[in-house]
Amino acid sequence: MPHIKIKSLDKKTLDSIVDNSSIIQFRADASNGGDYLFGVELNNEKFLLQLKRDEHNDMFKYDKVTRPLKVNIIKEALKILSEDLDLDVIHNNINQSNSTPPLSSEYLKKIKDFENIEFPYDEVSIEVGFGSGRHLLYQAQKRPDTLFIGIEIHTPSAQQVLKQIELQNLKNIWVVNYDARLFLEMMPSNLLSQIFVHFPVPWDKKPHRRVISPSFTNEALRVLRVDGLLELRTDSHKYFWYSLETFLTLPKAQVVIDKNKDLEITSKYEARWKKQEKNIYEVHLKSEEKSAEKVLNISFRFNDIGYNKEIKDNLPNKAIIEDGYFVHFERVYSISDSALLIKCAFGSFDRPEHKYILLTKNLCEYYASVPVKTEVNYQAHKKIMEFLNV
Ligand SMILES: C[S@@+](CC[C@H](N)C(=O)[O-])C[C@H]1O[C@@H](n2cnc3c(N)ncnc32)[C@H](O)[C@@H]1O
Repeated sequence: MPHIKIKSLDKKTLDSIVDNSSIIQFRADASNGGDYLFGVELNNEKFLLQLKRDEHNDMFKYDKVTRPLKVNIIKEALKILSEDLDLDVIHNNINQSNSTPPLSSEYLKKIKDFENIEFPYDEVSIEVGFGSGRHLLYQAQKRPDTLFIGIEIHTPSAQQVLKQIELQNLKNIWVVNYDARLFLEMMPSNLLSQIFVHFPVPWDKKPHRRVISPSFTNEALRVLRVDGLLELRTDSHKYFWYSLETFLTLPKAQVVIDKNKDLEITSKYEARWKKQEKNIYEVHLKSEEKSAEKVLNISFRFNDIGYNKEIKDNLPNKAIIEDGYFVHFERVYSISDSALLIKCAFGSFDRPEHKYILLTKNLCEYYASVPVKTEVNYQAHKKIMEFLNV
């Protein structure tokens, strides 16, 4: 990742960075000392650069939380900074490169894209946890008129399938590298023809981590169109019974079970279990009723919250754990006598959001982008407001 290592800055140079650089908007100092953050605005993007210091040298590097997608923009910012301040550079790696980042493809969609997305096909299906992608790629080849959205939490698997999409010249797959348990929330009602859940991790000792749960199943029924099908296949006896019980509690849905049914394509995990002569259980959940449209009534505004000197002391040091979400104020940076930057993590335990909150006398906002519009993030946001509204 891009950085520039420089001779240690003296206090005068450090204090003049905001005035002397064309791209730096503010400096934020960690309240417990050590490092500094600089707010950058460049090519319509806002992000932070970090200044790390040790006894010998200083280093400007990217900040993980606000990192822009394109690495070249960070390199450009470091180059401009180095020229503006006439820095004494010891080492850098900021030459612009043409190589594409590892997870970059027009078929890769971010969770945020779904806040406002158009589906270019009438038929849409989802596969949860596609692993090697054998089943997903096969379905997409066989049914070019259907859009297949594959959701996989494991980044290397997502990467591998994106490569295959390119090699096989497929146009009808989107890959989402995210937690499927949170993803369905982002889908409109009555859209999907199928949801494939093939060989989910059984989590027999930690059932709360399973993909199938009452809330997932309710969301699945909402997003399936009438006669749409959730297809679960599992080798786990426990998972089978658990899912069956969960499905049977739902009104207006049909449940059908099967055993050792052969599909046209055998997934990697299925092949393994078949070799071991294990039973394969299948449960179908069929939607029988049209669901209400989902109204996304979520706003991440902080209303009239502004800087107040009590806020810093009011922030808890430890994470606040609530039912289904958490909030953790990780670090506080001071920008001036009346402005703070607060680094925090919040939302779901499995896919937390990491954000900064910029707080000045007249303004409070997430820097540099708002969280994903999910219910847990919204709950966490309301909790955050309680601590800032002092
Ligand atoms: C046992 S593998 C099965 C893979 C594939 N379906 C098959 O049959 O070969 C389970 C897959 O689900 C993925 N996974 C687990 N939890 C997930 C979640 N919450 N959201 C999305 N993917 C998940 C794992 O990374 C893994 O690739």
